[in-house]
Amino acid sequence: MAFSSLVKALAIFIAINGVCGGAQPSPDVQRRISAAIEAAANATAIDYTAFVNPFIGTDNFGDVCPGASVPFGMVKFTTDMTGYAPAGYVADNTQFVRGLSPLHDSGTGSSLGTYGNFEIMPLICPGGFDTCLPNLSGRERLRKNNTDDASPGYFSLTLNNSIQMEATSTRRAGLERFTFPKGNTPFFTLDLANDLPASFKGGSLVIDPDAGRITIGGFWGSSFGPGLFKYQAFACYDLLNYGAQSLNQFGVWTSDPNGVVARGLGETRLNLSVSLIGGVIESGALFSFAGRPTQVTIRVGVSFISEEQACANAEYEIGAATFKEILTRSKALWNERLSRIEIDVPHTPPNVTELLYSSYILLIFRIYIHQNNATGEAQGDFAGTTSFYFDSLYCRWAFRTFYPLMALHSPEVFAQIVDSYIDGYRKRGWMPECRANNLPGWTQGDSSGDVIVGHFAVNYHNEAEALGIDLEELYAAQVADAEINPPEWNIQGRQSNVYNHYGYIPYDALDTSSTGRTTREGSRTLEYAFEDFAIRQVALLLNKTEDEAKYANRSLNYRNVWDPNVTSDGFHGFMQKRFPNGTFAVVDPIDCSPKDPHGDTRQCSLQSGNTVGFYESSSWEYSWFAPHDTAYLVTLMGGSTTFIKRLNHFFDAGYYLAGNEPSFQTPMGYHYANVPSSSVDAVRKVVFTNFDITPAGLPGNDDQAAMATLLSWHLLGLYPVPGTSELLVLSPMVPKYIVHNPYLNVSTTVTVEGFDMRSVNVTIPRGVAAYVQSVRIDNITQASRCHFDFYDTFHVGAEIVITVTSDRKAANDCSASVPQSISTGGFATLR
Ligand SMILES: *[C@@H]1O[C@H](CO)[C@@H](O)[C@H](O)[C@H]1NC(C)=O
Ligand SMILES: *[C@@H]1O[C@H](CO)[C@@H](O)[C@H](O)[C@H]1NC(C)=O
Ligand SMILES: *[C@@H]1O[C@H](CO)[C@@H](O)[C@H](O)[C@H]1NC(C)=O
Ligand SMILES: *[C@@H]1O[C@H](CO)[C@@H](O)[C@H](O)[C@H]1NC(C)=O
Ligand SMILES: *[C@@H]1O[C@H](CO)[C@@H](O)[C@H](O)[C@H]1NC(C)=O
Ligand SMILES: *[C@@H]1O[C@H](CO)[C@@H](O)[C@H](O)[C@H]1NC(C)=O
Ligand SMILES: *[C@@H]1O[C@H](CO)[C@@H](O)[C@H](O)[C@H]1NC(C)=O
Ligand SMILES: *[C@@H]1O[C@H](CO)[C@@H](O)[C@H](O)[C@H]1NC(C)=O
Ligand SMILES: *[C@@H]1O[C@H](CO)[C@@H](O)[C@H](O)[C@H]1NC(C)=O
Ligand SMILES: *[C@@H]1O[C@H](CO)[C@@H](O)[C@H](O)[C@H]1NC(C)=O
Ligand SMILES: *[C@@H]1O[C@H](CO)[C@@H](O)[C@H](O)[C@H]1NC(C)=O
Ligand SMILES: *[C@@H]1O[C@H](CO)[C@@H](O)[C@H](O)[C@H]1NC(C)=O
Repeated sequence: MAFSSLVKALAIFIAINGVCGGAQPSPDVQRRISAAIEAAANATAIDYTAFVNPFIGTDNFGDVCPGASVPFGMVKFTTDMTGYAPAGYVADNTQFVRGLSPLHDSGTGSSLGTYGNFEIMPLICPGGFDTCLPNLSGRERLRKNNTDDASPGYFSLTLNNSIQMEATSTRRAGLERFTFPKGNTPFFTLDLANDLPASFKGGSLVIDPDAGRITIGGFWGSSFGPGLFKYQAFACYDLLNYGAQSLNQFGVWTSDPNGVVARGLGETRLNLSVSLIGGVIESGALFSFAGRPTQVTIRVGVSFISEEQACANAEYEIGAATFKEILTRSKALWNERLSRIEIDVPHTPPNVTELLYSSYILLIFRIYIHQNNATGEAQGDFAGTTSFYFDSLYCRWAFRTFYPLMALHSPEVFAQIVDSYIDGYRKRGWMPECRANNLPGWTQGDSSGDVIVGHFAVNYHNEAEALGIDLEELYAAQVADAEINPPEWNIQGRQSNVYNHYGYIPYDALDTSSTGRTTREGSRTLEYAFEDFAIRQVALLLNKTEDEAKYANRSLNYRNVWDPNVTSDGFHGFMQKRFPNGTFAVVDPIDCSPKDPHGDTRQCSLQSGNTVGFYESSSWEYSWFAPHDTAYLVTLMGGSTTFIKRLNHFFDAGYYLAGNEPSFQTPMGYHYANVPSSSVDAVRKVVFTNFDITPAGLPGNDDQAAMATLLSWHLLGLYPVPGTSELLVLSPMVPKYIVHNPYLNVSTTVTVEGFDMRSVNVTIPRGVAAYVQSVRIDNITQASRCHFDFYDTFHVGAEIVITVTSDRKAANDCSASVPQSISTGGFATLR
């Protein structure tokens, strides 16, 4: 998902009007990071969490959640704000805080977000219980400027009445700590119904005053999927801090839209259904603590299964541990993850380290706050599954960069996620595409899971069995996607009957056996063709000769939507959607690009009015998409010279949209035209015109770390071809890094010989070395300086030396070979 044109328009409005306040987060966050980097220069043991600024991407619709979490945690504690805040938190200090809550997703776009249920809000009610304003508009409050703080495993926000809210977490639980100004009775409301998109569909709340426990359970609507789908969630709040605190008053409340708040002192139950007239009934618990304590600690457990499970999760994961102990454990988990890609701090100037760590380590961090490890918490079709279960997968067209990065260092995690995908096939017949809230969401590329599991199979087939993956079953799951038409391809699988019949998805085709919104015909054809390539790779791996030929052939279906007769800006031939009779249904290739003259009103996403044929992208952009066969695109576009001119024009004319996945591989197109210096220049421009280390530092919504992993690859100076073991070589923006792969027990060092800090800039100044002169692996100079293989490097542990030169021209060819393409004999064998 990317942001809709509505949101884009809003962004422009806000940028022009400067509404976004610069007063959050606290300036101490950056100061602390700078100090930590300086100190790390001579340190023996590095605390990587100290370099992370979780607030990057919390402004400008990056939609990133800075919440307290552990890697892949289900819980991400942050505050929920008014306004457009799909991840709960936004840096914009003109927005009001409604409470602190445990469940959030990070980096989702085009929607009001999801979760934010079980919000707790501290209140000061000088007149006592009956004067508290627990309803949404009654309790919302501004923050104190320059006070928001966060680091891996920790979140803090201070309200403008000086109440500080802090949180730290485990996978399914956490501790909240509230500090009140002296002399007040701490009151709290715990919300039953509210969530970010106001999607409550019924639930209940029970206060057990003796145990000091409140349990909540209910149903809410899915975030990016059919409105009729609902998920269940549960929470368990333990209020007594193991006997250190005691309750004073307690009760429940409801509120109607006219602002009448009804309170019931001493009442212990609420059981509400979905309101058929007029939306959500605001409601919750209201309670206070005895003895005017200045600090209150509350333990929270969550579950997708039951209230009992939520309480058990808190007891199991937290028990009587203190806030400090949980935070220490959380930081240790983060350090274990963050240290898998290590930068040589002592040999890097501090200012450079800061630049790199602030973006790079942060991005690695980002990877792990996406996807909830909901193993043991699955519901619906997956209830009781013995497989790993990951949720908040959203739309996995992040297959482009996310999983290949994981493949470098964390095959054991990758295998768990692959298992979860295959389990989707077992339980529902097709692998998941946009699963979130434990529910299927709308498909985008339709079956990107084929590429994800294919990438795993190709890169870890030797280890697959030990990692619990049966490659034959993995292949069966891919084939099901490719061959079995789901009744409703909007939510899973592909429109395979029609695609397999025509060799493309026709515009306006009669489909008598399945349902789905007939849009995206061009982009779906291109994505399906690439997914077919990933299936072909596994068929090749498993010696399924006939299938290998069949899917290799289908992977060329991208050619079926190539209309040689369309011209735009003097360039001929574009991907276009096509009628069943073969005639093209031509649209202007710039439609739905950033230069679309009707950009504000054009429907480019899942709307029925998307007649452009491409999903959140233009024909100009998608015409570059055949990552397994770019050599043939060069031919289709009229040869290298025209291809290069066209690529230059694409960037110069502003058709490139950094903020969304279809654009990801375009800068590397130059490699295939044998002008790799141009790729190096293009990537520098992409990075430094779209990313920085401020809260507004992402070009679009992070899309579950798609952006973060794209940037990581760019900084590391490599780029993956999904579904293969090939890695393209670019120019790293760090002098040296080490990738540790604890599962394989190998480490790979990448050193940039001739590295010049001045090259880390939007344009590489003349005379500054940055272009790849040669690549040595274990001291053997490679024939090509444009690509190498995972099996020769990161799989075995290698010393890679990339020598850079300032002689752009001399470096501007690949030497022996350009990266592979299937139509020129590439990808003929697997490693
Ligand atoms: C907080 O900062 C904003 C500007 O970002 C300013 O308008 C407002 O007055 C400040 N609030 C306080 C209490 O200083
Ligand atoms: C690190 O050590 C070097 C050499 O001993 C010294 O010059 C430098 O000031 C130290 N840096 C820090 C941040 O302590
Ligand atoms: C705090 O914010 C509220 C709105 O939430 C506002 O009414 C109040 O004046 C603010 N107080 C201070 C001290 O800024
Ligand atoms: C919340 O309560 C306050 C005070 O009763 C009232 O003014 C306000 O309208 C209420 N808001 C809603 C949304 O009910
Ligand atoms: C709430 O009410 C529904 C029926 O309206 C009932 O099925 C359910 O058990 C009740 N839940 C609780 C916790 O009382
Ligand atoms: C880092 O500091 C050095 C020395 O002060 C300076 O030459 C260089 O330009 C700086 N680099 C960046 C990226 O700020
Ligand atoms: C997910 O949770 C399960 C159950 O606790 C655990 O075995 C697994 O290692 C976790 N995976 C990740 C990647 O955190
Ligand atoms: C496929 O064939 C190759 C070469 O004959 C062999 O080495 C490999 O083990 C076979 N793989 C499978 C999965 O049968
Ligand atoms: C392209 O135009 C030529 C000449 O008008 C025509 O013969 C050909 O059929 C067209 N090709 C397609 C794919 O429409
Ligand atoms: C193909 O179908 C389209 C849409 O119905 C129509 O406009 C076009 O004329 C047809 N082409 C031919 C060659 O019949
Ligand atoms: C980047 O290059 C510009 C000139 O193009 C220069 O002004 C700026 O200082 C450079 N930045 C760094 C960090 O070297
Ligand atoms: C690498 O090769 C060069 C030239 O062949 C040689 O001089 C050097 O000693 C070798 N280095 C290592 C670490 O083997």
